[in-house]
Amino acid sequence: MEIIILETSAQVAERGAQIVCELVRKQPDSVLGLATGSTPMALYERLIEKHKTNGVSFSSVTTFNLDEYVGLDPQHPQSYRYFMNKNLFEHIDIKPQNTHIPPGNLDNPLAAGPQYEDQIRQAGGIDLQILGIGANGHIGFNEPTSSLGSRTRIKTLTKKTIDDNSRFFAQDEFQPYLAVTMGIATIMESKRIILLATGWKKAEAVAETVEGPVCALCPASALQWHPCTSMILDTAAASLLKHTAYYKFVLNEQDRLVERFGDPR
Ligand code: GLP
Repeated sequence: MEIIILETSAQVAERGAQIVCELVRKQPDSVLGLATGSTPMALYERLIEKHKTNGVSFSSVTTFNLDEYVGLDPQHPQSYRYFMNKNLFEHIDIKPQNTHIPPGNLDNPLAAGPQYEDQIRQAGGIDLQILGIGANGHIGFNEPTSSLGSRTRIKTLTKKTIDDNSRFFAQDEFQPYLAVTMGIATIMESKRIILLATGWKKAEAVAETVEGPVCALCPASALQWHPCTSMILDTAAASLLKHTAYYKFVLNEQDRLVERFGDPR
């Protein structure tokens, strides 16, 4: 894992956006895996800005989001389809038909997983997956004890996640407790992964992910097995890591190599 520790959450967003834009410039028909939640919002703002001012084009890009609530209409303001339209897709030149969100409102919700896996496969797999992390170590909606070999499927949310996400719903509003989420194995097939984490509330999950054992109780820890994952953290989210000096040393050395020989990623 590459551990990048930056001073502020704004720098985390900027670094993430740079990685996305470099890839899209190099490979205009990239397949991006996208995340929702508050963490990637600043990254999306920067993508919009880079599209508008630096001419970064998403016209040949395909996207697959990690997850969606079961039982919410795509027009519902808390659906992840609505979130993505409002916070990114409507502001860039991506083709709406190239954007994919797991279907959360099928008559048979159990069909959602295999159907989504097929679509990802047909698109040639995900080149770059953006992840946030739940305070309990979840990625997508793969809650603790999710199989590390899981594929896209329906997951029941934990009370912690329901409580953490209740801030987005009005008090008397129906808040779904089921979601369709890419599985851990689905995520692990992405060629490159960047996980963004900011703020103290994520510090424990980040420490377990990077320095704890690989175990289903912290689903993000599976990323230790991924050959090309960057954790992009602000100092608060990195505050419980024990080996920060080493991570900085590694990055310096890597920067020197990249300067001399170029970035192979
Ligand atoms: C939700 C999403 C995750 C996201 C997590 C953290 O549960 N399914 O993909 O990483 O929330 O959200 P936030 O960035 O708002 O802390």
